[in-house]
Amino acid sequence: TPPLRPFQITFDAATAVVDPAGPVLTRRMADLEGLFRDQRAWQELRGSEKVVYSVHSSPVPETPRELPQSITTISPGELSGELFMTKGHQHPDPQGEIYLGLTGTGGLLLFDGAEHAWLDMSPGTIGYIPPGWAHRSVNVSADEPYRFLAVYPGSAGHDYQWVLDHGMGARAVRLGDAFELVPYGG
Ligand code: F6R
Ligand code: ZN
Repeated sequence: TPPLRPFQITFDAATAVVDPAGPVLTRRMADLEGLFRDQRAWQELRGSEKVVYSVHSSPVPETPRELPQSITTISPGELSGELFMTKGHQHPDPQGEIYLGLTGTGGLLLFDGAEHAWLDMSPGTIGYIPPGWAHRSVNVSADEPYRFLAVYPGSAGHDYQWVLDHGMGARAVRLGDAFELVPYGG
């Protein structure tokens, strides 16, 4: 592929539309096997058409030296109290990544295999993901989508099995009008 020329990308924070557009990914319950605490409830809803989150990417490719970007939108919702979230992943080639909150309120859960961290995210917040920390995003609002922009090194790669093997250190669970972090196994 020829090297990219400088170009401009516009996005609409209200709709997640990226122009020019790259790949769009849609995640439903069926795509989130083994991730929610209540596996029985997940089984019952695995055929649901409801979109848990979507990812709109720009056309910048995931290749070395490039800096791809994508906008993730997580629907409000929960499964047996556990807030709607992304699958979460580790970058096999440990490199940093930044998230910028666009709309709604959410959180960035990070886990390095021993310790977890939580960053509150809202419009204007930059969440920094240091190299070596697995990351998952959570919508903490009961009625509004949470949306953020991610910028990451094109050679970082995405390891989803790591989260299935190691967990994320904690889970975000609804508590009245707010939420709490509970131990991953509990
Ligand atoms: C890229 C990145 C985000 C996520 C997106 C969906 O490195 O961290 O763009 O890919 O928020 O989450 P996952 O990939 O965990 O399904
Ligand atoms: Zn990432």
